[in-house]
Amino acid sequence: MTSPDLNQAADMVRAAGRLAVLTGAGISAESGLATFRGAGGLWAGQRIEDVATPQAFARDPQQVWRFYNARRAGLATVRPNPGHVALVALEDRLGPSFTLVTQNVDGLHQAAGSRNVLEIHGSIRRVRCTACHARSERPTETLSEMPTCTTCQGLLRPDVVWFGEMLPLDIWARAELAVQDCDCFLVIGTSAFVYPAAGLIMTARDQGARVIEINLDETDASRRVALSLRGPSGVILPELLRLL
Ligand code: OAD
Repeated sequence: MTSPDLNQAADMVRAAGRLAVLTGAGISAESGLATFRGAGGLWAGQRIEDVATPQAFARDPQQVWRFYNARRAGLATVRPNPGHVALVALEDRLGPSFTLVTQNVDGLHQAAGSRNVLEIHGSIRRVRCTACHARSERPTETLSEMPTCTTCQGLLRPDVVWFGEMLPLDIWARAELAVQDCDCFLVIGTSAFVYPAAGLIMTARDQGARVIEINLDETDASRRVALSLRGPSGVILPELLRLL
């Protein structure tokens, strides 16, 4: 596939001194992970308030852990797809001029080989103690429905950002800085529905960066971007890379 739009996108990426990327659940769809919204999505049949809010965890931690344990177990068999791999190649080309910001908590960018990943919504491969706040990597093991901290016996929670919670300040600040500073911003596989992440698109556009969206469908962001590439990111990103 080579379209005029793809060539135009390649020109924009080539011309960019600094490139920033925002990814969402769509980039992992071709690895077999469900996105959040739409038919059969992660939230389908599940009320967000029951599984992804601090109130839900306070009310029924076991129910919340059942949801996250199922998602963690699902990771055992998923692999990065060519979209993730193409972003590793971009990082290799651009080095520190490349910043990858992800809303995903699945760790697939790192599994593909991306080194600098700003996980603004945290990671389900990590846990955090609700008492002593210590974080630890627990990528593969099966956790109980009431897992506790090995140091202080406090209740552990997934180290993710729930609705109504603040984003990790330092990581968010680095993401904003990179987007304020970039010449080209790729927005990949996100519905651009959840803020403040979606606000990065306006930040990029308002400071003069060329914003390119890669998505299967039109989104809230489509009318605000310079170029929309429609299709699966696992196909479009490798094609784009070949043109650079
Ligand atoms: P969504 O599920 O809202 O959106 C996924 C987007 O990916 C949609 O726009 C799809 O059209 C697109 N898509 C699906 N398959 C694709 C493919 N193969 N190639 C390209 N695009 C594809 O997921 P997010 O935008 O990531 O937050 O959702 C944002 C946040 O909402 C998540 O990080 C999560 C959720 O609530 C928290 O949990 C805090």
